[in-house]
Amino acid sequence: MTSTLLVTGGAGYIGSHTCIELLQEGHQVVVLDNLSNSSPEALHRVEAITSKAPIFIEGDIRNPALVRDILARYNPEHIIHFAGLKAVGESVKKPLDYYANNVSGTLVLCQEMAAHGLFNLVFSSSATVYGDPASLPIRENFPRSATNPYGRSKLMVERMLEDLYLSDPRWNIAILRYFNPAGAHPSGLVGEDPADIPNNLVPYISQVATGRREKLQVFGNDWSTADGTGVRDYIHVVDLARGHLCALRQLSQGCGLKAWNLGLGRGYSVLEVVSAFEKASGQTIPYQFVDRRPGDIAACWADPASSQKDLQWSAEKGIEEMMADAWRWQSTNPDGYSRLSGPERLRKLDR
Ligand code: NAD
Ligand code: WQD
Repeated sequence: MTSTLLVTGGAGYIGSHTCIELLQEGHQVVVLDNLSNSSPEALHRVEAITSKAPIFIEGDIRNPALVRDILARYNPEHIIHFAGLKAVGESVKKPLDYYANNVSGTLVLCQEMAAHGLFNLVFSSSATVYGDPASLPIRENFPRSATNPYGRSKLMVERMLEDLYLSDPRWNIAILRYFNPAGAHPSGLVGEDPADIPNNLVPYISQVATGRREKLQVFGNDWSTADGTGVRDYIHVVDLARGHLCALRQLSQGCGLKAWNLGLGRGYSVLEVVSAFEKASGQTIPYQFVDRRPGDIAACWADPASSQKDLQWSAEKGIEEMMADAWRWQSTNPDGYSRLSGPERLRKLDR
């Protein structure tokens, strides 16, 4: 069944890929994004891929009057809530920005939802809420902790949503804990476009491959992993996007509050990722080992059994596809979305 959805942060990396899946399934999509970490070009590309245009409202989720107006005007059946800040290092320097955007933003959204009589929410959480897990793979009932303001903001929201559900069982809330999203849309038109020097491994490697960065710094080769480098569960962004559509079905069936891991269920080391990228791109990625990055952990991967069972979802794309799609995006859009001139943009869309 198709419905109308509000997608906060829908112009961002995961949001834009989710908009594609939603539009392709015939849903009506309203995007609210303040473009603090994205470009409207992402939504033009979404339209180029799907031949359907999401309704775009530029604005902030912390603006209650705006959220109220959007809910009244479009009367969505569900909200998928991606909007927020996500850079761990920046969160240490600007903690109040993170609490304001991630915690207060979600608070405003939930208040306006309740006032409107809308109780169906999908929330973007993160594997970061598991801190440094005592064992692997990670199940949803593992203890939660956070080591930085970004992680704490996600944990605070999870707890706030739990309290909200306890207070009013009309809420249906799917907390989706993403592991490490990677890759891009297979068209090469939509992908990750970090505003600054990338923090995350795959966008960094991609920029080394195009020559924009000299070499990759591998943060530590003395971790207790098979090759000494950090191990993570990388999940293709299109698989992740599909997971949201599966979560919507759960909301419609009255799931109450539930948390699900979205990951592949296996880990790859930094060196394995480098090697997969080299194979997919035909490029050599120069790298050097440097000290561990503060706050990093040795290894992290999901047990996706609950999402497989409850959501009938599983990741279909492996590391090879993630790297091939990341490379297609990066090599055809070496400067991302923002620095394209109008004619260049159109030429790319025509291809
Ligand atoms: P992104 O930065 O590409 O997308 C977030 C979007 O939200 C951006 O378009 C930004 O402009 C918008 N935004 C930020 N604050 C806003 C506000 N106050 N009002 C309106 N719009 C606002 O990030 P992403 O990678 O697509 O992540 C989406 C969500 O998933 C975030 O909540 C993030 O914390 C979470 N998450 C991301 C990862 C990851 O590695 N990418 C992993 C786990 C969880
Ligand atoms: C992956 C591996 C690094 C960059 C972060 C957030 C997490 C979630 C996903 C939002 C690690 C190594 C990285 C580099 C490297 N985001 N690395 N050189 O740290 O697992 O997770 O993004 O919720 O909250 O913490 O992802 O891509 O930064 O790192 O060696 O230049 O690559 O040490 O082992 P991480 P990442």
